[in-house]
Amino acid sequence: MASTQLLLLACLCLSASHAFTCRRFQSKSEVLVTVQDRWFTQRLDHFNGADTRVWEQRYYMNDSFSHSEGPVFLMIGGEGSANPGWMTQGTWITYAEKMGALCLLLEHRFYGKSHPTKDMCVENLRYLSSQQALADLAHFQTVMTEKLGLGNRKWIVFGGSYPGCLAAWYRIKYPHLAYAAIASSAPIHAVLNFSEYLDVVQASLSRNQSNCPGKIKIAFDTMLELLDYKENYLKISKDFYLCEVLVIRSKMDMAFLLDTIAEYIMDVVQYNNDNREFEVSLVLGVTWFNIKYIGGQ
Ligand SMILES: *[C@@H]1O[C@H](CO)[C@@H](O)[C@H](O)[C@H]1NC(C)=O
Ligand SMILES: *[C@@H]1O[C@H](CO)[C@@H](O)[C@H](O)[C@H]1NC(C)=O
Ligand SMILES: *[C@@H]1O[C@H](CO)[C@@H](O)[C@H](O)[C@H]1NC(C)=O
Repeated sequence: MASTQLLLLACLCLSASHAFTCRRFQSKSEVLVTVQDRWFTQRLDHFNGADTRVWEQRYYMNDSFSHSEGPVFLMIGGEGSANPGWMTQGTWITYAEKMGALCLLLEHRFYGKSHPTKDMCVENLRYLSSQQALADLAHFQTVMTEKLGLGNRKWIVFGGSYPGCLAAWYRIKYPHLAYAAIASSAPIHAVLNFSEYLDVVQASLSRNQSNCPGKIKIAFDTMLELLDYKENYLKISKDFYLCEVLVIRSKMDMAFLLDTIAEYIMDVVQYNNDNREFEVSLVLGVTWFNIKYIGGQ
């Protein structure tokens, strides 16, 4: 694999975490399957024995291919609402069919319908961490093993992007629980100000003679000039269909605006032909929210 592709893979989640990817195409083979919400009683704080509070965590199950000798596949949720599409499609399902696997997907705490606390005030966000998420998975696995009689089966965890990191960390932290981990596009080495991401975007857009990066640079330079004068904000707001007239109070506001616009260009590179059309087609009947914020929120 070319190094640029590797780099791009490594970047997937960094962009996906705040990507507004609005893809409206439909899958060629549109299959709408109703996947049942299931609930698991989970501990709020795995690291404080005195805290006995619990909450209901959502999970999905597909046992159609499950064979008593086969493995258990555990897909790790994260970065967004659990997508029911994954319970009937995706490469792991083809593996499950071949290997007789039981497929489970555990939604990440604080996403989708998995609400550990009544709100997301700062005080409650202390319970949103990868450490707690890993412990959620371990507790889930332990209880489900008992409940479904899965003691003799090998558990293999799957994850992409941030959940890919969780998959790798889960295997390291609980080697007695996870037989193997598939850590897909897992950016386990965090990098501050990761501008190399845009180098990959630029290289991709430079592949023929149309000088696309040059044109994008002109567009952004023009944009920056316009942003120098508040009189232009109304026009900018109209041109970009902003919900309200633009107000820039800080450098962060400016960065957010520019990043949001740049995302569209980044996403063209990152998500073209990424073989996940089914994610969109399957959620069409479920929630519109997932379509607008696919891959993250
Ligand atoms: C499991 O996935 C297969 C393949 O998409 C599908 O045919 C089947 O209905 C699913 N089973 C359940 C219980 O969701
Ligand atoms: C981020 O990295 C780029 C490229 O190395 C550099 O030009 C820019 O000043 C850096 N920004 C910050 C905030 O460090
Ligand atoms: C650039 O490449 C794309 C994809 O191969 C092609 O569709 C497009 O027409 C090319 N543009 C120019 C100006 O050559």
